[in-house]
Amino acid sequence: MTSRITGTGSALPEKRVTNIDLQELVETSDEWIRERTGIVERRISTGDTVADLSAKACERALQAAGKTAQEVELILVATCSPEMLLPCCACQVQDQIGAVNAVAFDLNAACSGFLFALNTAHAYIQAGLYNNALVVGGEVLSKLVDWKDRSTCILFGDGAGAAYVEASTQDIWCPNGRRVGMESMVQGSDGTRANVLSCVQRTVHNAFLEQSNKEEFQYIQMDGQEVYKFAIKQVPTCILEALDKAGLTTEDVDLFILHQANERIIESVARRLKTALSKFPMNIDKVGNMSSATIPVLLDELNRSGAIKQGDRIVLSGFGAGLTYGADVFVWG
Ligand code: UT7
Repeated sequence: MTSRITGTGSALPEKRVTNIDLQELVETSDEWIRERTGIVERRISTGDTVADLSAKACERALQAAGKTAQEVELILVATCSPEMLLPCCACQVQDQIGAVNAVAFDLNAACSGFLFALNTAHAYIQAGLYNNALVVGGEVLSKLVDWKDRSTCILFGDGAGAAYVEASTQDIWCPNGRRVGMESMVQGSDGTRANVLSCVQRTVHNAFLEQSNKEEFQYIQMDGQEVYKFAIKQVPTCILEALDKAGLTTEDVDLFILHQANERIIESVARRLKTALSKFPMNIDKVGNMSSATIPVLLDELNRSGAIKQGDRIVLSGFGAGLTYGADVFVWG
């Protein structure tokens, strides 16, 4: 028994914010942002919540899979930017799409969130607890970003992507001899590196404290170079580990769909894996870094454009705050 993705969907806010627009806000330039990150524009919410975008992405994934909301058994929303602590975003999505029979909860592993949620869904399905799941990565990071901080505000964007994942009870063999479904997964966390990328929400604050700890709202804090160094080392390492677990090498892979944080990180990973950059599709120029939403939005874009074919072996890999990281290997179909 394995699991396979049978439908994808995504949703982006309508408002485009270009690098030129950002020149009005902070001391930066279109040239600097393009050269250092590969980003040209990003989408920014003018009112869409994480739940709104996630629900739209889910509806599109269901439509693509030919399923109804009533059939959904599990909804997992990976997000680090929900508008509400209670209820969880997944329950709001359940309500918006009318998935009355689903169990729904959130999961936060920052930019690795979608990958971790996909693995969680796979584990539940493999254990026989559920037959299907809507796995979502959704973020409205624009509310967590300090729009006066040029080192972070140029990077992030808002959006959501979803995948409908189903149990594959009978083996499906592709003409190229590959079996459809998940082949291996690697995930890891290093909680000692929390200060590299963080966003404090509420510190301890109650009626029994002598001194109130109530703090002003805080924005994303990041040591960009540390994240960069972590990513270019950890991403190729965990991809190789996941491939090794499946008895495969980089040559067996058709597409590497990586977390879109910086074009230079992806180029460096491709070099370290000694693999052509053409196997590393990117959309960071148009959407920036949408944390947990980047991988599913790119997956949906590639799926809808026909860039992914049945039998293709795909590697997904993400990294982010925590620090967290991971890689999955699966065959599409
Ligand atoms: O999903 C995970 C989330 N985070 C990431 O993935 C971030 C990973 N890190 C990165 O992508 C890169 O480190 C950044 C894009 C954040 C920064 O690029 P960098 O090449 O590491 O630049 P830097 O931080 O070393 O800064 C170089 C210079 C500095 O000026 P000085 O000290 O050399 O005079 C910065 O003050 O660039 C300056 N700078 C900027 N200049 C124009 C920093 N941000 C900007 C900016 N526009 N927006």
